[in-house]
Amino acid sequence: MPASTPVTLPEADAPLLPDWPERGTITLADEADTHALAHRLAGLIRPGNVLLLSGHLGAGKTHLARALIRALVGAPHEPVPSPTFTLVQTYDAPNSEIWHADLYRLGDPGELAELGLDEAMGQAICLIEWPGRLAPDWPHGAVLIDLARQPDDSRIARLLAAAETPLSAALAQ
Ligand SMILES: Nc1ncnc2c1ncn2[C@@H]1O[C@H](COP(=O)(O)OP(=O)(O)O)[C@@H](O)[C@H]1O
Ligand SMILES: [Mg+2]
Repeated sequence: MPASTPVTLPEADAPLLPDWPERGTITLADEADTHALAHRLAGLIRPGNVLLLSGHLGAGKTHLARALIRALVGAPHEPVPSPTFTLVQTYDAPNSEIWHADLYRLGDPGELAELGLDEAMGQAICLIEWPGRLAPDWPHGAVLIDLARQPDDSRIARLLAAAETPLSAALAQ
């Protein structure tokens, strides 16, 4: 046996994107721009909407979700921990429950069923980080925001949606 066998590691960290058309691009120069996007989203997102948040570690998925949850709940200091370990955190907004999920550490698909995310989608406002774990069963009416950190620390937010929905159309403007 050779001293070292080359090992090809699967790209576990590479965000997997659905094959959906791009509906718009927004440049987020700094955190203030991300907050502005979160507040715009808060005015547009409705119970039953699913927002998928994609991008590498540190791209700003949780940051955007946190600002959006705080805007929806109407509490600027609401504690919004990353659901990295709990997988799901839920919040009560005035007219909807909010589910904030991070599927990065999701084990087998059975664990997904246990979370109850399927039932929540279509009722609650669902914000899902690392949505590639849902592939190939991408939620069809969802809007996906893919965040990419640029060398100057700004973020490019690409908007993808399988079909044009009121949320995707409003966001694309
Ligand atoms: N324009 C921006 N939008 C979002 N986060 C930003 C921005 N500029 C810098 N950051 C910083 O980048 C980090 C993003 O972290 P986080 O949201 O936890 O990433 P992710 O959930 O994608 O792994 C935060 O420390 C945040 O302060
Ligand atoms: Mg995160």
